[in-house]
Amino acid sequence: MKKKLIAGNWKMNGGLSANEALIHALRSGLPATVACQVALCVPSVYLAQVQSLLTGSGFDLGAQDLSAYEGGAYTGEVSAAMLRDYGVRYCLVGHSERRQHHGETDAMVALKAQRALACGITPIVCVGETLAERESGAMEAVVKRQLAAVIHVNGHCISEIMVAYEPVWAIGSGKTASAAQAQEVHALLRAQLKAASSQADRVSILYGGSMNAANAAELLAQPDVGGGLVGGASLKAPDFLSIIAAAR
Ligand code: PGA
Repeated sequence: MKKKLIAGNWKMNGGLSANEALIHALRSGLPATVACQVALCVPSVYLAQVQSLLTGSGFDLGAQDLSAYEGGAYTGEVSAAMLRDYGVRYCLVGHSERRQHHGETDAMVALKAQRALACGITPIVCVGETLAERESGAMEAVVKRQLAAVIHVNGHCISEIMVAYEPVWAIGSGKTASAAQAQEVHALLRAQLKAASSQADRVSILYGGSMNAANAAELLAQPDVGGGLVGGASLKAPDFLSIIAAAR
């Protein structure tokens, strides 16, 4: 079975000395063998620092966003090739905070996934419904629409992506989806991927949204939950280490 992935999403947190302290604590607290893969998705400006701090650790480096364009006159943007220069293996695309605060559309998210794949970076495509969408019964239509855009553009490469189901109402709120709620959506997404590709079983679908040391084991035990995307708890070494230990 494919190893689970626990990916920390630092969001816009960190600083040179805080990063060093956190990675030191993670590296010294990590047991000699872990059953899962671990990645840290850090702000772009810290990629070089974190790449060097992670050398020989077995942790992979991730980014939080990338440009939908290959290069050129796009002030402020960071390309997939630039991320690759720093050994980035994973990149979040379409995180709900980017959809919400930066106007990212399904079409842009699909292009970003395509750029990442073209440079050998695994895009972690984030999908998820708001509370209003869930309460109005639109959850399934929303997550399927978000994923369909990525399948449409990336067709034959779709088995190379990862997906993260992150209900918007659970992000940073302390309200986690129950294990059954997460599994229900993961199974829907799995079925959608299977309809698009015979290789869909290879796609890990991570759960994200207030995953913590107390709820990780139950969420990660669900059959279609292939790992976790962890925000707040990834900034505290003991919590993140407990989540890593829960991923078998
Ligand atoms: P959270 O964030 O774990 O703090 O809820 C998850 C995410 O937004 O990726």
